[in-house]
Amino acid sequence: MASAGEETDRPSATATVMANRVEDMRRLGVCLGRAMRVGDVVALVGPLGSGKTTFAQGLAQGLGVAADRHVASPSFALVNEHPGRTPFVHVDLYRIRTRAELPELGIEEAYDRAATAIEWADRFPEILPADHLQITLDVDDTGRRRLDLHPTGPRAIALAAVLART
Ligand SMILES: Nc1ncnc2c1ncn2[C@@H]1O[C@H](COP(=O)(O)OP(=O)(O)OP(=O)(O)O)[C@@H](O)[C@H]1O
Ligand SMILES: [Mg+2]
Repeated sequence: MASAGEETDRPSATATVMANRVEDMRRLGVCLGRAMRVGDVVALVGPLGSGKTTFAQGLAQGLGVAADRHVASPSFALVNEHPGRTPFVHVDLYRIRTRAELPELGIEEAYDRAATAIEWADRFPEILPADHLQITLDVDDTGRRRLDLHPTGPRAIALAAVLART
């Protein structure tokens, strides 16, 4: 058994939510998106294909981004900004190789004007604000997705509570 010291420095999840189907993943994103405000940051962490973009598409819907807006994995653009009731900035750090590439993406500046979701945030956790909600996604052997909620401050705790209630 791993001792506590071998774990990451992130505290254990406050709650776990299951998404058995792709629609569930999206619906969870919608619920959270409805509660998000400018300045809120969600870190989406999990292996390839675990559902990070699907969840972000739900966030966009919940934030009031127009339904005809294509919210895709921003792997090529790296950062996509979508107008909405609350503006939505969607980031994917998968292709970023060094932290020297980060400033030109303007991610931290986006926190002041949008709600933000960052796929692969664990690659460069130093860009996250002190108060953020990390959602760690995993796929079990039946293909169901498990979402572990790791809030790091009061605002993120409030957002995690919204998801845990659904
Ligand atoms: N809860 C779920 N149950 C079953 N399939 C799901 C679920 N959530 C997402 N999927 C499906 O898994 C596939 C990958 O999803 P998605 O692109 O959202 O993952 P990702 O984590 O963003 O991947 P990447 O690491 O490549 O960015 C898609 O086909 C999506 O429809
Ligand atoms: Mg993705």
